[in-house]
Amino acid sequence: MSRRVRVVAVAGLALAGAALAGAADVYKPSEATLELYKAKCQQCHMADGNSPLEPLNFADGKWIHGDKVEDIAKIISEGAPGTAMLPFQSQLTPEEIHALARYVRSFDKTPVKESEGAKKAKPSAAKTPTGKPAKTPKGE
Ligand code: HEC
Repeated sequence: MSRRVRVVAVAGLALAGAALAGAADVYKPSEATLELYKAKCQQCHMADGNSPLEPLNFADGKWIHGDKVEDIAKIISEGAPGTAMLPFQSQLTPEEIHALARYVRSFDKTPVKESEGAKKAKPSAAKTPTGKPAKTPKGE
């Protein structure tokens, strides 16, 4: 009996690992998140997040307020003062805001960079002393 339990546990871990690895690669928003985006965000940010207006564009790899999901979630909840980007925290739950932040971030295919704020907090952001990226192909 105990042997059987162990086998099941190991299989469970393997499944959980596969699910986590998959989640990191492709983010699939839920129907509810897609509906929310359509209802509340799309009129300004466009269906594909690729607005011709630079500050509204999510797909160009440029983020005014930081490119991490947490930075994006903060703007969605608190808004960008002085712009048409209003705070949504009274209309949406924290879970909805987080899901929208992940969805909006997924329009941008570039990996997360250190945002300005994060750079200040961690000055030694992944650079060699020469200022070149650490990863150079071997033997070239
Ligand atoms: C009335 C138009 C409008 C609506 C609706 C709107 N936004 Fe925005 N949004 C803006 C504007 C304008 C900006 C640019 C703010 C700035 O220049 O700092 C912005 C900026 C943002 C940013 C920051 C982008 C960056 O480069 O850092 C995020 C994230 C964002 N919006 C998400 C959303 C989400 C999610 C929704 C729906 C819940 C939404 N917005 C609805 C107008 C809108």
